[in-house]
Amino acid sequence: MRITSCRFERAAARAADEPIFPGADIIFMGRSNVGKSSLINRLLGVKGLARTSSSPGRTQTVNFYYVNDRFFFVDLPGYGWARVPEAIRRSWKPMIEGVLERRRDRIVLGVLVIDARHPPSELDQAMLDWIEAEALTYVVVATKTDKLSGNEKRKSREALESAYLKRGVHGAALFVSAETGDGMRELWRYIDAALTEKGCSRAVRRGS
Ligand code: GTP
Ligand code: MG
Repeated sequence: MRITSCRFERAAARAADEPIFPGADIIFMGRSNVGKSSLINRLLGVKGLARTSSSPGRTQTVNFYYVNDRFFFVDLPGYGWARVPEAIRRSWKPMIEGVLERRRDRIVLGVLVIDARHPPSELDQAMLDWIEAEALTYVVVATKTDKLSGNEKRKSREALESAYLKRGVHGAALFVSAETGDGMRELWRYIDAALTEKGCSRAVRRGS
């Protein structure tokens, strides 16, 4: 897809702040510090659009980026980082769940971002449970692959695939790097397809 425009639209901490003008949502979720905001910047080709940080818990609101005046990239606060104060963690859960519930009908693709160096955590599995229960089209994106050797990458792929096989879910995992840009073209294909299908099919993407 050609990006003709993209802008930071709004940071929302409560329902009333969420933008509701026409369009679909592509929602980025995953553990804190995994690289969601970096991935958004790389996909849009704008460094620094979404704020990133080497310390977990950077994104503390739900941040909306409006692309081509047509759809939102929604950057969720990351879950599951022990060092984030308990009070903040407690406020994130309803914030994340609220957005997912309120905007369910607009969400055309869930991008579940995980660290390619680690197998999916229990919280990732819980997120996947929700995604599957909602029959949301999704893609699991294993990022930071630039930190892996060829052999480690192969092992990581096997670990991820076996995690899926256990769940009875097939494929649909992409390996990417926001650092090098690897895998961006492929991820855009999923995003394009989901936007094209908007309103037509809500079936879970099983990969190909
Ligand atoms: P929260 O907002 O806390 O949920 O984190 P996040 O998931 O948005 O992560 P963020 O994009 O802020 O990245 C966290 C750290 O990982 C930063 O130091 C990034 O530079 C680094 N990072 C993100 N993606 C990559 C990648 O593909 N390769 C490498 N080497 N580093 C990455
Ligand atoms: Mg972030």
